[in-house]
Amino acid sequence: IEKIAVLTSGGDSPGMNAAVRAVVRTCAFHNVECYGVYQGYEGLIEGDFKKMDARSVKGIINKGGTILKSARSKEFRTKEGRQKAYDNLSEEGIDGLVVIGGDGSFTGALIFNQEFGFPVMGIPGTIDNDIFGTSHTLGFDTALNTVVDAIDKIRDTASSHNRLFFIEVMGRDVGHIALNVGIAGGAEEILIPEEDLGLDRLVESLNKSRKSGKSSSIVVVAEGDKIGKNIFELKDYVDENMEGYDVRVSVLGHMQRGGAPSCFDRVLASRMGVKAVEAMLNGQSNYMVGLLDNKMELTPLDNAIKGKTKINLELLRVSDIMST
Ligand code: F6P
Repeated sequence: IEKIAVLTSGGDSPGMNAAVRAVVRTCAFHNVECYGVYQGYEGLIEGDFKKMDARSVKGIINKGGTILKSARSKEFRTKEGRQKAYDNLSEEGIDGLVVIGGDGSFTGALIFNQEFGFPVMGIPGTIDNDIFGTSHTLGFDTALNTVVDAIDKIRDTASSHNRLFFIEVMGRDVGHIALNVGIAGGAEEILIPEEDLGLDRLVESLNKSRKSGKSSSIVVVAEGDKIGKNIFELKDYVDENMEGYDVRVSVLGHMQRGGAPSCFDRVLASRMGVKAVEAMLNGQSNYMVGLLDNKMELTPLDNAIKGKTKINLELLRVSDIMST
């Protein structure tokens, strides 16, 4: 491998910049040329590359977002799009690609590798933590801290006004964010897609806690929760079926994806960047780097995409006990 390109793709996450920096600097350390690709796979198709050296990535370890920009490319899903990407990479003499993104981005990388035999390596970057083969994806820890901070603030006003708040947090298909911030934010109930206990039980439990003397409450709802109602309908339902609370909704939205990465995410990004480049230089391809038992490990991209991340049942139990 003589020239490595790096891109960020899909929904951005805090720590992506730190990972780009780590890839670029590891290349510099090993005297390998490195190119940044703009706008994810779009940039591969457009040939939007820029040569980067160790100094190109100064001052970004602490920045949220991604200096390389990100996109969800429709054209890369087509054979023609991928052919253009391959031609552009070949023209530049690039012979390895590091993709920082989530499962959609990895699927693209895998197909690209299968079609052209092009060496690829994945770094998991998404706040959702929904990638198999790593205990933490990049940005997950920062997002948790951002959300807990928001919940603490909502709790202040909830308690002043004796209110019940439904707070929606991100997590398209999974409840990792919700479960963790629910425990850390002292939520009464946590609603996640992995566990549907039904509306009656929710109302019953909220009534019980109201009667036990609670004057305000927080319910954390994962965006992908499948209780059968969106958060506003859920609020109306609970409003109609219980007494004693003034009910409000707060949807936290994209603020969860922004902000300076936490110390944990910066260290993780740095470790992942080093591992990704060094694995490529050792001739490995089609893997994702991940954190398992506090070690950097490689998981075949195929498994990373298809493997299901499981919700931590112990956390579920802790949350149940804490809301007593
Ligand atoms: O996958 C990360 C994520 O932030 C999800 O939690 C959320 O559902 C989705 O991206 C939002 O995507 P967009 O930025 O396209 O609205």
